[in-house]
Amino acid sequence: MDKLLIEGGSRLQGTVQISGAKNSAVALIPATILADSPVTIDQLPNISDVRILCKLLREIGGTVSFEEHTFVVDPRNMVDMPLPNGSVKRLRASYYLMGAMLGRFHKAVIGLPGGCNLGPRPIDQHIKGFEALGAKVTNERGAIYLRANSLHGARIYLDVVSVGATINIMLDAVKAEGQTIIENAAKEPEIIDVATLLTSMGAKIKGAGTDVIRIEGVHELHGCRHMIIPDRIEAGTFMVAGAAVSDNLLIDNVIPQHVEPLTAKLREIGADVQVGEDQVFVSRSRMPLKSADVKTLVYPGFPTDLQQPLTSLLTQAEGTSIITDTIYGARFKHIDELRRMGADVKVEGRSAILSGPTPLEGAKVRATDLRAGASLIIAGLMARGITEIVGVEHIDRGYDHIMEKLQGVGANIWREPMRDEEARESLKEQE
Ligand code: EPU
Repeated sequence: MDKLLIEGGSRLQGTVQISGAKNSAVALIPATILADSPVTIDQLPNISDVRILCKLLREIGGTVSFEEHTFVVDPRNMVDMPLPNGSVKRLRASYYLMGAMLGRFHKAVIGLPGGCNLGPRPIDQHIKGFEALGAKVTNERGAIYLRANSLHGARIYLDVVSVGATINIMLDAVKAEGQTIIENAAKEPEIIDVATLLTSMGAKIKGAGTDVIRIEGVHELHGCRHMIIPDRIEAGTFMVAGAAVSDNLLIDNVIPQHVEPLTAKLREIGADVQVGEDQVFVSRSRMPLKSADVKTLVYPGFPTDLQQPLTSLLTQAEGTSIITDTIYGARFKHIDELRRMGADVKVEGRSAILSGPTPLEGAKVRATDLRAGASLIIAGLMARGITEIVGVEHIDRGYDHIMEKLQGVGANIWREPMRDEEARESLKEQE
């Protein structure tokens, strides 16, 4: 087990290349189960969530290669093998195996998904969708059993706008008999990306990216080649890092529209952000940063996944900032760690209330989840002295070579193996 060390104070300068979107990748890979010939996906991020999904596709009989960011799968020999335990529990997105396997085999057994602990993360809307399409769903000893004699189109209104449920219902509906309409669907770019792949495979989907998606079921889906969209959350994380400690950071391979809510917020705080065609330049302005209130919302609102990184930046803003997470009201596990580094911040209900600016000092901190890890890296870049981050496995789940990318633009960041007693302590705290 490694820990990540950062010596704060370096000014970042240069170009960072953004990888393919994690939250697309984890849905695109299961979607390939539905094809009856090989599928190639280009520019997949090299992160542990993707490697786990590759392993799961192999477990059910797929032939998978993942080299140089290109993923090729031959799904022809896949079988409806139950996956109640093991790797499936290590990532949240394993729930997409439910929709995809149900769509292809009309049955699936999937262990309840793990992933970041952000408070309760129910999947009732996914299940409501599967049932509407004709599946019988039961929860037996911590695994979800799905069975259907046949799948038929249905009209499904999501009570909660959910990225996962919208994609899962699409995966299940593309091969169901007749028309499915998803109302109050989520509109995230990752949903459009999955719909694009499915359409290239022969599916008939209209309205992805709006709140009503119409799907006409087809009997067969075939292989294709697909290029994933860039990761807007990785891009956003580097934009925040740029606003914190860069003279001129060029973030390359971005769809600027996907990061608009962050661009607007960073400008409001006082950072210099310039937008090109598929690039964004960010610099810390010479003026003191201004405080701001932030409320996370479904797309195109401010993304919950960038709330934690932005909180670190706001410790350096003058005045009081209030950050409210309306999507995950308990996504504040980074706050105690930021306090260890000197931040003046407290959590009240679904909000973090910050007073700044406060100088940050390097400390030993724990990344409790993926984006908490990103927020601690940004805090470490701004802090005086050395910050030691444990829980790096959470960061590796979703950021493709973040250490190397930061080193490439001048950050003083490195990994060290944890000492035996540190590893033992770390495992104990995780339990
Ligand atoms: N919800 C329900 N019932 C459901 C599904 C969701 O009540 O059946 C609630 C959730 O508890 C949450 C809200 O609806 O309060 C939104 O959840 P959503 O389903 O949209 O989230 P998700 O699909 O589980 C994805 C990303 C998250 C990201 C959210 C919101 C993946 C694998 N995960 O999760 O990404 O925060 O959408 O945009 O795509 C991350 O990347 O760090 C991450 C956690």
